[in-house]
Amino acid sequence: MPAAQLLREGRLVAFPTETVYGLGANALDPDAVCAIFQAKGRPSDNPLIVHVADRTGLGQIAADIPSLAWALIDRFMPGPLTLVLPRSSIVPDIVTAGLDTVAVRIPEHPVARRLIELSGVPLAGPSANRSGKPSPTTAAHVLEDMDGIIPMIVDGGQCDFGLESTVLDVTGSVPVILRPGAVSAEEIMSVVGPVLMIDPAQATAVLQGVTAASSLSDSVQDIAGETSQSGPPRSPGMKYRHYAPRTPVRISDGPDGQARSHQTRAMMLDALQDGLTVAVFCSTETAELIAESLPAGWLLADLDRAEGKPSTPPPPVSSAISEHSRRHVFLIAHGSRDQANTAANRLFAALRQLDACGADVIIAESAEATGIGAAYVNRLRKAAGGGAEPASR
Ligand code: TXA
Ligand code: MG
Repeated sequence: MPAAQLLREGRLVAFPTETVYGLGANALDPDAVCAIFQAKGRPSDNPLIVHVADRTGLGQIAADIPSLAWALIDRFMPGPLTLVLPRSSIVPDIVTAGLDTVAVRIPEHPVARRLIELSGVPLAGPSANRSGKPSPTTAAHVLEDMDGIIPMIVDGGQCDFGLESTVLDVTGSVPVILRPGAVSAEEIMSVVGPVLMIDPAQATAVLQGVTAASSLSDSVQDIAGETSQSGPPRSPGMKYRHYAPRTPVRISDGPDGQARSHQTRAMMLDALQDGLTVAVFCSTETAELIAESLPAGWLLADLDRAEGKPSTPPPPVSSAISEHSRRHVFLIAHGSRDQANTAANRLFAALRQLDACGADVIIAESAEATGIGAAYVNRLRKAAGGGAEPASR
């Protein structure tokens, strides 16, 4: 049965977007949406994003589009920006977890847009992973999590961004970034000026784009204070543990790229000293440093190279770790340490791949938290279990 027909009949279909794969259902059918929560094992208080094909769809899902949203719509839609808007009465409660707002996005991916058009309904669509696991960036990842649970996955190859959309609340007088993502705070500020950013690790709101708090109007300062003291999170999803492989993740960090490389190497050597099997996700520069400094008897298993060249035998993986394979350091290098976009693009796939190595610990290198780097660092912290409650599965 074609994907669009399955969706019209209330079934679930996983589909590619430019960010990550989504798990789609007819957003106007409460039973179909309920099946999403079941398939993912997702807590019902975490609302879903509604995907529409165009501005007409946006107008049907939102009760009202505030004036400051229009410039953002013109600039970033279609694309990896999700807007939180007042909710129209056609949106069922289960989609928004009872909130009076709804998150909407127009994906840019041609397959996603065609699927919405062919099915003729807006698609509620969280990332197509089981709750708590890294979001899927290939159809194979979706299959890992959803085999036997959903009837169809539409394979559109690898996702361009590899990280989810930016979730931006535009219902107040100042836009609030609820989840950093593929559209950076800097890009948003270039269109609408200062924005608030929720920092889930500290449960505070940080003002972006202002040099001194005194340059803000009183009303903006009030909002900053209000948001930082607020009880319930404005984006319920932020409180849950996310993106977490089974293997514990430790973050290596430092004030600049070189310092991070040295910290990654030091953490790896410490872990080896403690007798742990180590997997590393880092920049190419760090990979070179590590290759030079491995203690005698240790080998680097570069999973990336093994993957790039099919003729190379795959490195040993989880099920039965022989004494021999315990002498490997598993490694994936994402690209230059100056380019957070490749780190962001590869993170989720690398976490899944390194998790399958059966290592005792994954050491993942941080990046500068500007541009898409902010979203990368946010996901990395969550993968390491920071700033969030344990996953509610
Ligand atoms: O890139 C993406 O956004 C992907 C693709 C498939 O579109 N979708 C995605 O959905 O990441 P999901 O469900 O994994 O994350 C949606 C986030 C959650 O943090 C949720 O709490 C938040 O958006 N959210 C949804 N509706 C909201 C609302 N009305 N108010 C505040 N936050 C909301
Ligand atoms: Mg998700």
